[in-house]
Amino acid sequence: MQNSDLEQFKAWFAKYTVSHFGDDPYINANLQLKKDHSARVCDEMDYLIDRLGFNDNDKLIARTTALFHDVGRFPQFVKYQTYMDPRSCDHSCLSVKVLEENNILDGLSDAEQQVILTSIRLHGQKLLPNDLDDRTALFAKLVRDADKLDIFFVVIEITKAYLADPNSFLLELELPDDPSCTDEIVDAVIDGKLIDYNKLRTMNDARMMQLGWVYDINFAPAFERIAEQKYLEQIAEYLPKTPQTERAIEQVFKYVAEHIR
Ligand SMILES: [Fe+2]
Repeated sequence: MQNSDLEQFKAWFAKYTVSHFGDDPYINANLQLKKDHSARVCDEMDYLIDRLGFNDNDKLIARTTALFHDVGRFPQFVKYQTYMDPRSCDHSCLSVKVLEENNILDGLSDAEQQVILTSIRLHGQKLLPNDLDDRTALFAKLVRDADKLDIFFVVIEITKAYLADPNSFLLELELPDDPSCTDEIVDAVIDGKLIDYNKLRTMNDARMMQLGWVYDINFAPAFERIAEQKYLEQIAEYLPKTPQTERAIEQVFKYVAEHIR
């Protein structure tokens, strides 16, 4: 893969995403969120691959995966007006479909295409299958870490914006802003388990689930970034304080501290 390939991909991505914007300010605001997210996931990916010492070709593959991982989000929101996959479609599979239908990766080798498409297809899954070959698993894990690093940032920013001015908030609120946190979710985090999206009932459940994502972080530099940016501290601030939630919060902090070099 060449630098020029990535440049072409960026140019196509810019054109493709812009083509989904229209007259509806609600749709545009939500699309912009994913456009900004995609750009920041590329930055997070750069951060990770620089620290992990990738060669130039592998850096290009990783950057392509980051750039395109959410390309399916654009047609998803235009068609369904939601980013919730269970209520619409699997956006990771849609990203792969968009790339295939537009023959975007055709100039790359079969092996490169396979690694990129599989990593994208699996990025939104609760868990990665354990029968992936080492190379595919490496890139699949990388894009999941880069994606989560930015989702931590996004949820904090969205929460701040919503609380500052709930009435003029233009983004989709996926769950009710209820003060409670479901016991089953809190217990799963205490037990170090990952959580199904369809178990979420409230915004606080989503926050608790996001704290639990640390169990699915793969690389030391990602743990370091989480600690440096104080993402978990900021998310935990919004959670109700009960003995159980405090225990879950303590557990995730301990887990992160243990995984920093
Ligand atoms: Fe995604």
